[in-house]
Amino acid sequence: MRPGELIDFKKKGRAITVLTAWDSISSSIVEASGADVVLVGDSLAMTVLGHATTLPVTLEEMLHHVKAVGRGFNSPLKNQPLVICDLPFLSYQCGQDEAVAAAGKLLKHSCAAAVKVEGAEPEVLIVIERLVRMGIPVMGHLGLTPQSVHKTGYQQQAIDPSSQERLVKQANQLQDSGCFSLVIEHVPGALASRIRALLKIPVIGIGAGEDCDGQIRVTADLLGLTSTQPPFSPSLVPGRQIFIDSLQAWVQQQHQQAENPTTTESQPRSDY
Ligand code: KIV
Repeated sequence: MRPGELIDFKKKGRAITVLTAWDSISSSIVEASGADVVLVGDSLAMTVLGHATTLPVTLEEMLHHVKAVGRGFNSPLKNQPLVICDLPFLSYQCGQDEAVAAAGKLLKHSCAAAVKVEGAEPEVLIVIERLVRMGIPVMGHLGLTPQSVHKTGYQQQAIDPSSQERLVKQANQLQDSGCFSLVIEHVPGALASRIRALLKIPVIGIGAGEDCDGQIRVTADLLGLTSTQPPFSPSLVPGRQIFIDSLQAWVQQQHQQAENPTTTESQPRSDY
């Protein structure tokens, strides 16, 4: 699927589903779920690499993970989900040439067909226009933008009327700059709904209410694998506890078998 096809989904009123993946196991599971898009998000800095924020993850690390994601797919290329990779902090903020080199590297050496960038400052808009002109599709990201955590924290964004007007203006600017879609994170649902109605490009929400053209989730959050759950993204299953319980049972079984070696598991199998 080409990134621009998500605009047709919006026109047809077909809900867009986006899940993150970070390696070949997670991408094979996400692919099997039927999600339209896989985002290799820089949230992997926290969920996978153990960093406190998304800021430390490097372009090389993103490339390493997006390559692994591509190796996890099982279906033929034409049926695989669209892969979008986050441009990490400082790979696009320092100018157009660096941004083209960074995004180009991701598209050249991996299955990623588009990149995502955060914010809509004038410098970012210029970078997006250049990337799009160079044939690199761009997804925008507004609201809570974790690369700006030291400025905004992780609280809900665009609460007062003036910041809501600013967000609406920025959403329009991102569309005019050539973004093919827009992620809106942790803002009031009524604001996301208003932006969805204004824009031709799809608005994909997380913690932004139900009235969006699609929803995006961090798969590790949805599966309950992370030790701290974002309040706006509840888990579907207590995955972490399920895995811990299963592994504890296995460890205990090993101890029991060592103490009592006559149990069936430790017997040589006769069918070999
Ligand atoms: O990095 C990420 O996973 C993201 C999603 C939260 C949208 O940007």
